[in-house]
Amino acid sequence: MAKVLIGCETSGIVREAFLAHGHDAWSCDLLPADTPTNRHIQGDVRDVMQDDWDLMAVMHPPCTRLTNSGVRWLSVPPPGRSLEDMWRELEAGAELFSAVWTVPHIPCIAVENPVMHKHAKARIRDYRPPAQTVQPWQFGNDPEGPDNERKRTCFWLRDLPPLQPTGSLDGASARDSVHKASPGADRWKLRSKFFPGIAAAMADQWGEYASRRHAAQAA
Ligand SMILES: C[S@@+](CC[C@H](N)C(=O)[O-])C[C@H]1O[C@@H](n2cnc3c(N)ncnc32)[C@H](O)[C@@H]1O
Repeated sequence: MAKVLIGCETSGIVREAFLAHGHDAWSCDLLPADTPTNRHIQGDVRDVMQDDWDLMAVMHPPCTRLTNSGVRWLSVPPPGRSLEDMWRELEAGAELFSAVWTVPHIPCIAVENPVMHKHAKARIRDYRPPAQTVQPWQFGNDPEGPDNERKRTCFWLRDLPPLQPTGSLDGASARDSVHKASPGADRWKLRSKFFPGIAAAMADQWGEYASRRHAAQAA
C-alpha cells in the first residue's frame, strides 16, 4: 500500500482522516503524539521525509515567524527576546518550509500555513503564491461542531488540485476561538490545532487523486 506522510503533526487529525480512508498514513513531529498511537514517528521531518513516501505528504511546518500576523516582531521583538532572535528564527522557519515544499521524491505535496509576510516569501526556495485559501467553516455542517471556526488557512500545492469545500455552513456563526485563545503555555498548541472537516476533505479528495495518479504510474 502506498504511504502518506503527515509532517509536523502531533494531534493526529490529518493522519486519522487518511487512515479512515484506508491509506497507510503516518504522522511525524519533533514532539510525541498527543494521544497513544503506533502511527507516529518522533523525529525531524527532514530526516523522516527521505523515506519512500510514495503516495503524498501533508506538511504543517511552524508558522510563528512566517505569519503576517506576527510581522511586527521583526521590528520590535516581544518582551525578553532580541531582534537577532526574531530574524534567526525567521531564517530557520523559512528553511524548514523550503525543505518540506521542495522535497523532490514525494509525488504530491500540500503545505499548510497562514498568510505570510514578505520577508518570509523572499526567503522560501521556489516560492509561489498559495494555490488556495480556505476557512474551516467551509468544511463543516454543524454550527456547534469543531469546524465552525474562522481561520484563514493557505495551501501551497504540488501536483494536487485545490480542495472543494464540503460543508453547508455560511460562516455567519463561525467562531474566532483560534485568535481569542487566552495566553498560557499551551496557547500555541490551541492556535495550531487542525480541523477535522478539512482533514476529511484532504483524505477523500487528495487521497483519491494521489491514488489514481499512483496507480496510473504503476500500470
Ligand atoms: C503549527 S504546529 C502544527 C500542529 C498540527 N497542525 C497538529 O494538528 O498537530 C507545528 C509543529 O511542527 C513541529 N516541528 C517543528 N520543527 C519540526 C521538525 N524539524 N520536524 C518535525 N516537526 C517539527 C512542532 O513540534 C509543532 O508540533
